[in-house]
Amino acid sequence: MVSCLRLLALTSLLCIASGARPLSSISWSGDATSSAIPTAQRDFDYFMFVRQWAGSFCSTHACPLVPNRGFHFTIHGLWPNYSNGSWPQFCTPEDKFDEDQLEDLMDDLEVEWPSVYDSDETFWEHEWSKHGTCALDIFPSEHSYFGHILKLHWRYDLSAALRKADIVPSRTSVYRTKDLIAAIEDMYGARPLVHCGRKRQLSEIWMCLDKDLKPFDCDTSQEGNACQEVVIPPFKSRLDVDQLSSKDEEERDGVQ
Ligand SMILES: *[C@@H]1O[C@H](CO)[C@@H](O)[C@H](O)[C@H]1NC(C)=O
Ligand SMILES: *[C@@H]1O[C@H](CO)[C@@H](O)[C@H](O)[C@H]1NC(C)=O
Repeated sequence: MVSCLRLLALTSLLCIASGARPLSSISWSGDATSSAIPTAQRDFDYFMFVRQWAGSFCSTHACPLVPNRGFHFTIHGLWPNYSNGSWPQFCTPEDKFDEDQLEDLMDDLEVEWPSVYDSDETFWEHEWSKHGTCALDIFPSEHSYFGHILKLHWRYDLSAALRKADIVPSRTSVYRTKDLIAAIEDMYGARPLVHCGRKRQLSEIWMCLDKDLKPFDCDTSQEGNACQEVVIPPFKSRLDVDQLSSKDEEERDGVQ
């Protein structure tokens, strides 16, 4: 799942890089010569706040770019969404990603928002162009967008909620998806969507946030990628394999 999403992300980026405007941006880009905010930016309904469990991807891929930080979810993105099932994207292509604006956030971004296989900058640039530029009425600048997302990530700490319900990465446990949902609802008052990939591996957890950034129950009828049960593979990276015995690794993953 993570790899599919990333692949999609990469494809869109290549479109931009090669100068071809992604098809999807045409109806949303508004009038580039006017300073008016394109309609699409104002009228989205809510945000999807997407975090990923890189441990799943990294259980089958070498992940030299992602250090093992134990039971630690990382950010995928904060995506404006319509309640009718579609979403705006690539809203203001002229608002180019500028890494220099994020200088004071860089240390935190590297820890909390790493790409699992690509350069971090490529990942951030994609998230900004595709999603961030559609939320300028809520986050008027790139710095505001990335800075607020970091704060949301810390405020809605997923592993804290799961750990409290004794749900931790494990090679042997199989968890009921509804228990993960309940653990997060218990701590943050709203039901998330839990996504899994191949072999029922937990891939992502999506929280729905209103435009005041308050969580609300996601509509599970729109759940496209649900499993009844999930496994949460302990995080493994090349570094671990070289440096840790599997016993140490297991302890570290479970306890952090
Ligand atoms: C919007 O929400 C729908 C339904 O939950 C989901 O399938 C879709 O991936 C979301 N897209 C974005 C960009 O948030
Ligand atoms: C969903 O709602 C948005 C905003 O109102 C609209 O622009 C878009 O065409 C709608 N999409 C669908 C598939 O109905």
